[in-house]
Amino acid sequence: MRNIILDCDPGHDDAIAILLAGSNPEINLLGVTVVAGNQTLEKTANNALKVVQWLGLDVPVIKGCPGPMVRKQMIADDIHGETGLDGHDFGEIKIKLQEDHAVNFIIDTILNSKEKITVVTCGPMTNLAMALRLQPKIKENIEEIVLMGGAYTFGNVSPAAEFNIIADAEAAYVCFTAGLPITMMGLDVTRKVQVLPEVVERMDKISNKAAEMFVNLMKFFNKSQKEVFGWDGGPLHDPLTVAYLIDPSVVTLKKMNTRIDIRSTDSYGRTNCDYFDYLGLEKNSNVAIDVDVKKYWDIIEKGIRSYND
Ligand code: BDR
Ligand code: CA
Repeated sequence: MRNIILDCDPGHDDAIAILLAGSNPEINLLGVTVVAGNQTLEKTANNALKVVQWLGLDVPVIKGCPGPMVRKQMIADDIHGETGLDGHDFGEIKIKLQEDHAVNFIIDTILNSKEKITVVTCGPMTNLAMALRLQPKIKENIEEIVLMGGAYTFGNVSPAAEFNIIADAEAAYVCFTAGLPITMMGLDVTRKVQVLPEVVERMDKISNKAAEMFVNLMKFFNKSQKEVFGWDGGPLHDPLTVAYLIDPSVVTLKKMNTRIDIRSTDSYGRTNCDYFDYLGLEKNSNVAIDVDVKKYWDIIEKGIRSYND
């Protein structure tokens, strides 16, 4: 059983990460903290509420940082649409945000926990970075940081950089230099888990609310992924973090040194992963280099099926 805080910016794939974390007996989901990323903070926070309400989860949702630490804010409306979660009608939002700030929630939850906590980030790493800066003592009670972000091959926002990292590279820098176990699910592996039409059809056969949400969201997601990248199935990035916590054998990890580029212009936000250990530096990260695609979709299907109607 892993105690986790899920920090995210929903976001179509974030929504599925919440779905997966919310119903699995291996995961004790302590809170969903929200950051600006795919859309503005107001929208991503609303989206987190929508997902939690739709799935009937009993978990606090807490709003965090409205923008990155240093750089100018960027969003990904080309992929996630005007609301940040276009494609599914969630109805009126009736549940409320917990009155706290995500950075304080992260600090207090970690400091007060008897057991170590894993922080999963599926968006820009601003909230966690701010928490680490504000209260470095939390490091003693963090088991692992598991992030979706980065790439040791090529990016999806620039040739060098992936969205979650480039959207707040300074925050990623803080997290990667914190001296904590950090496991990175980058585009190198998440691009292999594409929601092809047969995946949508497979999940559509499950008739419950979770499947309905999955199918509607993925249809929109696939449409924009086709327009922007030309793929028939968008990469379902974020849930790989949670899938790894449910079953670590879903990915193959390799220890390597990773440094976040916060200095250059063309390559700002690149995760420089020293795959071949050229530099002989401390291997500060575990980087996913392969994924068992069949196992992944089985985990997702099981997650969807675990919801009652
Ligand atoms: C990441 O960027 C966001 O658009 C997705 O939600 C995912 O977290 C992929 O680069
Ligand atoms: Ca995300």
